Amino acid sequence: MRWIRNGVRLGLAAACLGMLAAGAPAVAQGPISFICSAQEDYCQALVNAYEKSSGAKVAMVRKSTGEAFAQIKAEAASPKTDLWWGGTGDPHLQAALEGITEPYKSPELPKLHDWAQKQAERSQFRTVGVYAGALGIVYNPDQLKKTGAKEIKCWADLLDPKLKDEVQVADPNSSGTAYTMLATLVQIMGEDKGFDYMKALHKNISQYTKSGGAPVKAAALGEATAGIVFMSDALIMILQKAPVKSVAPCEGTGFEVGSMSLVKGARNMEAAKKFYDWLLAPQAQAIGIQVKSYQVPANKAVSLPAEIAPLVDAKMIDYDFAKYGAPAERTRLLARWDREVKSAPK
Ligand code: F6P
Repeated sequence: MRWIRNGVRLGLAAACLGMLAAGAPAVAQGPISFICSAQEDYCQALVNAYEKSSGAKVAMVRKSTGEAFAQIKAEAASPKTDLWWGGTGDPHLQAALEGITEPYKSPELPKLHDWAQKQAERSQFRTVGVYAGALGIVYNPDQLKKTGAKEIKCWADLLDPKLKDEVQVADPNSSGTAYTMLATLVQIMGEDKGFDYMKALHKNISQYTKSGGAPVKAAALGEATAGIVFMSDALIMILQKAPVKSVAPCEGTGFEVGSMSLVKGARNMEAAKKFYDWLLAPQAQAIGIQVKSYQVPANKAVSLPAEIAPLVDAKMIDYDFAKYGAPAERTRLLARWDREVKSAPK
């Protein structure tokens, strides 16, 4: 947008005065401020490629999904972030429904898979799907043998008393992965039974980590026997020949629609929109697989490598994103988890 002609100067001045009266829009300052909630190396690869191709500057910070949501909400009166990319869809939806993110229809939108477009529709275009991935269990077979517990195939297997202090999952307040687990269990078992399950599981939890991917590394290092994680994160380690396996639980599992949102009142709105469009286009969407991040990309033009196929074949529930991304529901479930699970006796 270029307003440089003398002929429009007067009109522009008048418009500016009007805007001051109505609360002026934020003025562009410095690089695009970017929160990224996927793997750090994936985030960095996106930033490097965009800076190289566009000449723009991007200041990136990696934050887990729940933390990113909390930061953007806390800054809503004076936003410091322009664009939030990646992380699970529920907190992005909560941000949309709380009106702290900006509606935008990218020209790339029609080129995305239905699940990515649906995420945009249910948020009134304040967020959009950028990748998808199934939740599962990662475990270290050697460690498992030492505990004497049987092969892990189902959610129920994680309750084996032989796994006391041997399981890790993140805290659902900070982590989108862990909130996906909470919402998945509630959808599979019903709310009260799901909470009974998480209370029983609490006895076997050694640590609620901040970030959702941390239990994969703990299992690979033998610091934990099992973890609840996205299977795409486990696959990274499996392909690096780490001593771990992953399984899609036999009762069924939930999945994420990793999302992207522009922050309402962003100081670099126009620059952030260009970055947003680029992030949805095939070239950027293919970067995940190039850096060996195995979420399913949202753009239909990107072909899937064979490694991803088993993740796509998991027995998936019909995850109710509208319900579990609704502000009141997410807030209520997290408060119940704090009250009944995190502080339960071991
Ligand atoms: O590590 C990648 C990833 O699992 C994404 O697939 C997901 O969107 C995000 O991290 C969730 O991270 P967290 O659980 O820390 O919010």
